[in-house]
Amino acid sequence: AIHPVVLSGGSGTRLWPLSRAALPKQLLPLASDRSLLQDTVGRLADMPEMAPPLMVCNVEHRFMIAEQMRQIDTQARAIVLEPVGRNTAPAIAVAALMLSRDDPDALMLVLPADHLIGDVAAFHAAIRTAAQAAQGGHLATFGIVAATPETGYGYIRKGAALAGVAGAHEVAAFVEKPDLATAGRYVESGEYFWNSGMFLFRASDFLDELKALRPDILGASRAALDAATLDLDFVRLDPPAFEACPSESVDYAVMERTRRAAVVPADIAWNDIGAWSALWEVASKDEQGNAIRGDVMLENARNNFVRAEGRMVALLGVEDLVVVETADVVLVAKKDQVQDVKKLVDRLKAEK
Ligand code: GDD
Ligand code: MG
Repeated sequence: AIHPVVLSGGSGTRLWPLSRAALPKQLLPLASDRSLLQDTVGRLADMPEMAPPLMVCNVEHRFMIAEQMRQIDTQARAIVLEPVGRNTAPAIAVAALMLSRDDPDALMLVLPADHLIGDVAAFHAAIRTAAQAAQGGHLATFGIVAATPETGYGYIRKGAALAGVAGAHEVAAFVEKPDLATAGRYVESGEYFWNSGMFLFRASDFLDELKALRPDILGASRAALDAATLDLDFVRLDPPAFEACPSESVDYAVMERTRRAAVVPADIAWNDIGAWSALWEVASKDEQGNAIRGDVMLENARNNFVRAEGRMVALLGVEDLVVVETADVVLVAKKDQVQDVKKLVDRLKAEK
């Protein structure tokens, strides 16, 4: 079996004003009628080898996540509750420790809860290839052809073909979030993939690497799990122990430094919807290139993204805008500047 581990800790500030700390993007229906988290779980539904998913999220989101799982008739193995966010390395460590209680060599498929995957059949094939690599002791990543010098991603240089696993390669280098000039060179070279942020490995292999590279993170994660309290499906990590854990992503803590990484190139129409413009790109559009949702009226408008949650929104004679209407905030932005929505959110936080 393969155990999905769904990471749902981020808040997705660049999709403000829809995405908020109390209702982050992975819990919103952004690309379909189901939330990104529901799509993440649902995408595995017809893979018989998948065990029930293990969810790892912030304690504040526990009821929403439990309810969303009920809506898609999926029983989680457990919902692990973090009292505070400590980034992905501790979240994955706790999941690996839990799974290894039953089976130290349990295969775990780590999935961010907030990605879109357009080609599900190709995704399933990539998972099966990665599972073979993982069974050979590798920490498998899924590589997406690096098309633009995006600095928010990890970059993976493909090494030699992996013996015995068609479609998988060794990792010659893993560089998390390089600067723009470096990312530009990587893209130019044609030798690099983006790290998709999904991983497949045996719990034991991950824990061995973490023990060697970051024993502090492993120790704090184990302490938080050992002192956890159980309540229904919820596993509440011990707050003082987890708060004492260093905050670090798995990419920096393990993937940049392990020598056991492998990469499975995955042509799966992947998108991590980092900003509103990415949603416009994947949405279905009218003949003028407008992607709309809700009560929207358009006249002589082109290539806009418009989302109306309550009130009617009307656009006249404008193009390349993002307009998002919510009960308390209306965002109007140039589509090519929506990466900076984060600046607005930072100012709001500072003014509070
Ligand atoms: N449970 C839990 N706890 N989940 C978390 C936490 C946490 O403290 N922090 C982040 N997550 C979840 C997020 O919700 C997201 O689903 C996933 O883990 C990855 O975190 P991000 O914060 O979105 O990472 P990133 O986008 O900056 O970088 C990662 O993803 C890129 C691809 O989208 C890296 O893996 C990069 O290398 C990769 O290219
Ligand atoms: Mg992300």
